Amino acid sequence: MKRGKGMKFVGDSRISAERKPNIPKDYSEYPGKTEAFWPDFLLKEWMVGAVFLIGFLCLTAAHPAPLERIADPTDTGYIPMPDWYFLFLYQLIKYQFASGPYNIIGVAVIPGLAFGALLLAPFLDRGPERRASKRPFATGFMLLGIAAVFYLTWESVVTHDWAAAEQQGKIVEGPEVEIDQEAEGYQVYAGQSCINCHGENLEGGPAAPPLVNLDLSPDEIKDIAHNGVGTMPADQYQGSDEDLDKLAEFITSLKPEE
Ligand code: HEC
Repeated sequence: MKRGKGMKFVGDSRISAERKPNIPKDYSEYPGKTEAFWPDFLLKEWMVGAVFLIGFLCLTAAHPAPLERIADPTDTGYIPMPDWYFLFLYQLIKYQFASGPYNIIGVAVIPGLAFGALLLAPFLDRGPERRASKRPFATGFMLLGIAAVFYLTWESVVTHDWAAAEQQGKIVEGPEVEIDQEAEGYQVYAGQSCINCHGENLEGGPAAPPLVNLDLSPDEIKDIAHNGVGTMPADQYQGSDEDLDKLAEFITSLKPEE
């Protein structure tokens, strides 16, 4: 290649005056050592890419993403957990110096410094040396970064409450109770709003607990039906006192068979 002296330029100094036609070079001088970018190399790249793409497609079809139960905004005990490749960031914001009032440190400052340094590395480290042992700073910071990522990921895995996580992904199944849908009490239940939240078989729903095997007296249930409890709104029962008696008796009768 001609460079510097003897090279003629047009107005734009990057374009040589002697333009060469865009014909691939003759590579026969170096058999097996090199090849034309277009189409030989690109075709190979594309074929490898296609194999991976189809592989990923098959993998996602065979293993659909695991889903937990329907999101429940009233469940304040839910512990969200990021995917494994973000666990180190997740762990970082659990430390006192990086959480609460110092959240900005864990969320922006530390990751910003780390990834910013990675971004600026080609500009900061301009030495011609390529061997890792001759570049103590670049190598040192990189090893430090890798060690930190591994340590934080490991730490987040061992400190996570996996037993609780196992439970929160599931609908808690109540004890098996036979529901007699012909019973008078059930007719009252189904005729009221109760069924919308507590479910067709009183099994509970995403936002309401099951109504089987309760430790409540009929009077307490009648009170709840009128006045609500906790997050259950009041005035859910709209009917006669007689029917409410039947409903309360019915709910208290729902006990698992011994
Ligand atoms: C809007 C949804 C909704 C409707 C409608 C509703 N409930 Fe509830 N119910 C709840 C929620 C939510 C709770 C849990 C409240 C809490 O503990 O914070 C609850 C709790 C209860 C409890 C206490 C359960 C326990 O484990 O102690 C009883 C009994 C009950 N409901 C009966 C009824 C009856 C009877 C009706 C119909 C008249 C009814 N509910 C209608 C949402 C509802």
